[in-house]
Amino acid sequence: MRYIGSKKLLLGDIERVIDENIKSAGSFCDIFSGTVCVGSYFKNKYKIITNDLMYFSYCIQKAVIENNSCPKFVKLGFNPIEYFNGLTPVKLNDLPEEQRFCVNNFSPVGGRMYLSEKNALKTDYIRNTVENWKSECLINNSEYYYLIAVLIEAIPFVSNISGTYGAYNKFWDKRSLKDLTLKEPEISDNGKENKAFNLDGNELIKQINGDILYIDPPYNKRQYSSNYHLLETVAKYDFPTLKGVTGLRSNDAKSDYCKKNSVLNSFEDLIKNAKFKHIIMSYSTEGLMGVNDIEKVMCKYGTGYKLYEIDYRRFKSRESKIDSNLKELIFYVRKEV
Ligand SMILES: C[S@@+](CC[C@H](N)C(=O)[O-])C[C@H]1O[C@@H](n2cnc3c(N)ncnc32)[C@H](O)[C@@H]1O
Repeated sequence: MRYIGSKKLLLGDIERVIDENIKSAGSFCDIFSGTVCVGSYFKNKYKIITNDLMYFSYCIQKAVIENNSCPKFVKLGFNPIEYFNGLTPVKLNDLPEEQRFCVNNFSPVGGRMYLSEKNALKTDYIRNTVENWKSECLINNSEYYYLIAVLIEAIPFVSNISGTYGAYNKFWDKRSLKDLTLKEPEISDNGKENKAFNLDGNELIKQINGDILYIDPPYNKRQYSSNYHLLETVAKYDFPTLKGVTGLRSNDAKSDYCKKNSVLNSFEDLIKNAKFKHIIMSYSTEGLMGVNDIEKVMCKYGTGYKLYEIDYRRFKSRESKIDSNLKELIFYVRKEV
C-alpha cells in the first residue's frame, strides 16, 4: 500500500544498522507500524510486537503478524476470498440500502468520488457479510481480522485519489474503474507468539519490554487519521457521522507526534520508558524535531549513539524534484534495562 512515510524502500538500511550494532536479539517491536512492512520483514528473525494508533493498521498486524499461516475457515466451509471475488452484480444488489455505508458516503451516490459505485457496493457487501459471519460464529477472531485486512489492502488499488484520502480526484482515474479484487496476503511462520496492538505508543511502551525497539513516528503535521480516514472507516465499519467535503471522521485520536509543541515531550517520554536493549529510529531531516533535539534525548537515556544519513533521492527514487539536502535519518542507541 502507498503510505506516507512507508519504509518499504528503507528495509535494507534498517537491517544494516541492526547487523552493524546488534550481535544477538530475540524480539523486535515496530511500535508505529503503519503498513506493517517493517514488522513483516523482520518476522523471519525475531518474535514481533507491532502497534499503531490506526485501527486499519491493527487489522493488518493481526493478519500478518499474529498469524503464522493463513486461516483455514473450517467452520465457514469455503474459501471466502474466492467467494467475494466471484460475487455478481445481481448478488451485490441484494444488499439493503441502509447497509450501504460506502456507497452512500464514498461514491458519487453520496456526492464523493473516492470509489466507483460498483466498488463501494462490493466493499459494503464484503464488510456486512464479514460482520454477519462473525456474529453467527462462522469465523473466529483471527479469520475476522484477516478478511478485514485483505479488504483494506485491496481498496487503495481502486481508490480515486492521488496518494492519500485527504481528497478525491475530480475525474475518474483509470485504476478506480477496475474491479475491487481481494488477494491472499503473504504470511510467514516464525513459530513464535507475535503480538499486535492498537494503542498510543507512549501507553504501550510502559507495558512491554524486549531487545530491539524500532521507532518510526510521523515526522510532520499531516495526521494519519485525516489522510487514511476511509480505510479506518472501512476497517471499523462503525457508520460514523462524516464531516465536510472529504468525509473525515469526527472523533479519531490525533497524534502528538504531528504537533510541534508536543512532539519532543512525547518522544522523550517514549525513550525514557522504553525497556529495550537497542533503540533504532527513522526520521527525516525535514521533521518537526531537529537532529540535535533527538540526539540530546537519545544520549540522555542511552549510550553508543550513532546517526546514519540516507540520501533521500535514493530512498524515494521514484519521486522527482526532491531537494538534494533532504536526508532520511536512522538513529541508533543502546539502553541499559
Ligand atoms: C511514518 S508512519 C509509519 C510507517 C511504517 N513504518 C511503514 O513502513 O508503513 C507513522 C505511523 O505512526 C502512527 N502513529 C502516530 N502517532 C502514534 C502514536 N502516538 N502511537 C502509535 N502510533 C502512532 C501513524 O498512524 C502512522 O501509521
